[in-house]
Amino acid sequence: MSETEVNGATARVRIWDLPTRLFHWTLVPLLGFAWWTAEERMLDWHRLAGYSIFALLLFRLIWGMAGSSTARFVHFVGGPVTLARYVRGHMFNRSAAPAPGHNPVGGWSVLAMIALLATQVGLGFFSVDIDGLESGPFAYLVDFDTGRAAAEWHGFIFNLILALTALHVMAILFYLLHRRDNLVGPMISGSRRWTGEQPALRFASNRIALAIFLLVAGGTWLLIAQFGRA
Ligand code: HEM
Repeated sequence: MSETEVNGATARVRIWDLPTRLFHWTLVPLLGFAWWTAEERMLDWHRLAGYSIFALLLFRLIWGMAGSSTARFVHFVGGPVTLARYVRGHMFNRSAAPAPGHNPVGGWSVLAMIALLATQVGLGFFSVDIDGLESGPFAYLVDFDTGRAAAEWHGFIFNLILALTALHVMAILFYLLHRRDNLVGPMISGSRRWTGEQPALRFASNRIALAIFLLVAGGTWLLIAQFGRA
């Protein structure tokens, strides 16, 4: 699928690895499913969605340290200077070169989203409903009031996740409409058109990603089966 590359001209460049894309496009429907099963009081399914999101997040944390360049936190989480320089010089500048991966603003929003999702799952683990009949797997470790407080925060954090997701989609629309830069295509196919010198990116093995995922999925299952009560 490569376009002709002539001396600094346009080429197709791989940006996102398969594990990062699978993480993203599995997370989106899972979050919707978690919301729907909570609304419908299908709490067995809701808990299962939560455990799956927990395993996905664990995987993403490890992949953020051991994965491909564009998946690594050090690659896209910059300090305040990097952030300010990007906002002033690049963000609204149509002719500025795109970032090979998350841009500095996107990087922080990704981190915020992952942190909120992790908090959400953590709270769900300890939540208990008003009559004490339904609970997260570790709610038995805390008293009823703490479990109720966890449930209240669980509801509140979900609204923050919704707000951040809306912002996320609006940012993507902004890039599409203002900068004529389609970020969704690369998150699906893994690659994008690139003009000029190609970024030096390193890609980690999909097999290692699969091994890590199986380990965290197995670990999650063991944790819930051995120590959870729900
Ligand atoms: C529940 C809804 C969503 C959540 C929780 C979510 C979360 C995330 C996260 C965590 C990342 C970082 C990926 C990584 O580095 O692992 C990301 C990136 C991305 N997401 Fe979403 N996402 C959601 C919905 C969407 C939707 C609906 C779209 C498409 C319109 C979308 C398009 C993208 C794109 C294009 C990127 C890469 C942005 C970039 O180039 O820096 N996301 N999303």
